[in-house]
Amino acid sequence: MFPHNDIDNLEKQLVRAEKIIEQTGGGILVITEGVFGMSGDLGDLKGIVALKKKHEFRIFVDDAHGIGTMGAQGRGAGEELGCQDDIDVYFGTFAKSFASVGAFISSTADIVEYLRYNMRSQIFAKSLPMPIVIGAMKRLEIMRRGTEQKDKLWAVANALQSGLRNAGFELGNTQSAVTPVYLSGGVGEATNLTFDLRENYNIFCSIVTYPVVPKGVILLRLIPTAVHSLEEVDYTIKSFSEIKDKLAKGLYISEKIANV
Ligand SMILES: Cc1ncc(COP(=O)(O)O)c(C=O)c1O
Repeated sequence: MFPHNDIDNLEKQLVRAEKIIEQTGGGILVITEGVFGMSGDLGDLKGIVALKKKHEFRIFVDDAHGIGTMGAQGRGAGEELGCQDDIDVYFGTFAKSFASVGAFISSTADIVEYLRYNMRSQIFAKSLPMPIVIGAMKRLEIMRRGTEQKDKLWAVANALQSGLRNAGFELGNTQSAVTPVYLSGGVGEATNLTFDLRENYNIFCSIVTYPVVPKGVILLRLIPTAVHSLEEVDYTIKSFSEIKDKLAKGLYISEKIANV
């Protein structure tokens, strides 16, 4: 493992791995996310790829949140960062911008052939049902046809992120549509706050608490989509300002939140 986007540390790990494979054979696979799913920032793909000049390895990019949303054509974080062709194994899920289930890996023919015959999901489990596969191909066709959906998504995401920042919210370093909102409070407060948001404001969002984030941090992860409206963005920002006030006043410490 190497710390988040720490290329110097990655190089040290590569040197270590090279020593190991001298004895064991095999090769080195560096795995990173294209868009980090929790914080929304981008993997330093260019920095990693640059190490190929000095070290021999393959790079695997999990671009679950990048495919369809990043880059001029929506081809993902590699396109955004100008190094798509240097990615050896590109993974994307159909569960985000494709609005479905399932996933894909694209790579060279020999790697894809190897995975077809060796992946657990190809051997012991059922494959994706054909309607899902055809649906995914249709969605890919729509994405390739133009950037209308991606442009709508970004209009919504930009409005949401700038609106929340202007309202004084902490969003960290997101560079993608993933919109994390950092608040302070305990796990109980986080639970009550999310319950209030869902039941009384009609807003559903995923909550992340300790141990995924440090103790005392509440992370609300907002996922804007192309079908949200700017009115909904305004409503969300207004509602978030209200729940932030309630949190500061200690209202979520109570266990009886249902009618707040
Ligand atoms: C970075 C990343 N990779 C992979 C996945 C898995 O997606 P799926 O729902 O297809 O299992 C997720 C889902 O949240 C994710 O955030």
